[in-house]
Amino acid sequence: MLVDTHCHLSKEYYDNLDVVIENMNGLMITSGCSDETNREVLELINKYNNVYGTLGIHPEEINNVTEESFEFIEKNINNPKIVGIGEIGLDYYRRKDNKDKQKEVFERQLMIAQKYNKSIVVHSRNSVQDAYDILKKYNLKGTIHCFSSSLEMANEFIKLGYKIGVGGIVTFKNSIKLQEIIKNVNIENLLLETDSPFLTPEPFRGLKNEPANVYLVAKKVSDIKNINVDDVIRITGNSAKEEFDLKI
Ligand code: NI
Repeated sequence: MLVDTHCHLSKEYYDNLDVVIENMNGLMITSGCSDETNREVLELINKYNNVYGTLGIHPEEINNVTEESFEFIEKNINNPKIVGIGEIGLDYYRRKDNKDKQKEVFERQLMIAQKYNKSIVVHSRNSVQDAYDILKKYNLKGTIHCFSSSLEMANEFIKLGYKIGVGGIVTFKNSIKLQEIIKNVNIENLLLETDSPFLTPEPFRGLKNEPANVYLVAKKVSDIKNINVDDVIRITGNSAKEEFDLKI
């Protein structure tokens, strides 16, 4: 089954979410990033059968974080369609001046994930070593979403029990290094995602992304690994079901 394990279905990005969700012949997991989008995630999972959600505070949103932000996540974490904590992590590309605060907010959420035994969706940009060092302290599972580091680091995360999230970037002509990583990582350790509305795969790069385009990611993985696309969809779909404990 086709599963988009990471997207952002928000009114902020889409005029007509009904159409976007209908276009997707499979399941999708929409990730919250802020108080507002976390509330939207809950609305969406109640409204659409094939939409699941994760709740979290993204590193770019930490200036608005309050105790209520964490309370909201904890209060809703046992909703059967809330399947993880995310999008959480560290982003030193956008900001380097608040690293301590980023780490603090990240760890607060890791503790919630640990307490409720939830999968996590990790955002790490220009921060791979710090993210790794923190995750190593916890006994968690999850996805390193939109993985963009080295094969060596991919293997380290896999050893810790994490999956490698592959999105539209892998279809870009200049992403030779990422394609090399995907080639060398066992397909059982990969999860497919779109990060919609961002990072639209080729040949639609530049247009707004949507979950249905996860098929193009599957197709590219199939080409790189020389595995039939139906097998890619089946294997990664089973991994997603298991990782997020999706009750279908
Ligand atoms: Ni994202």
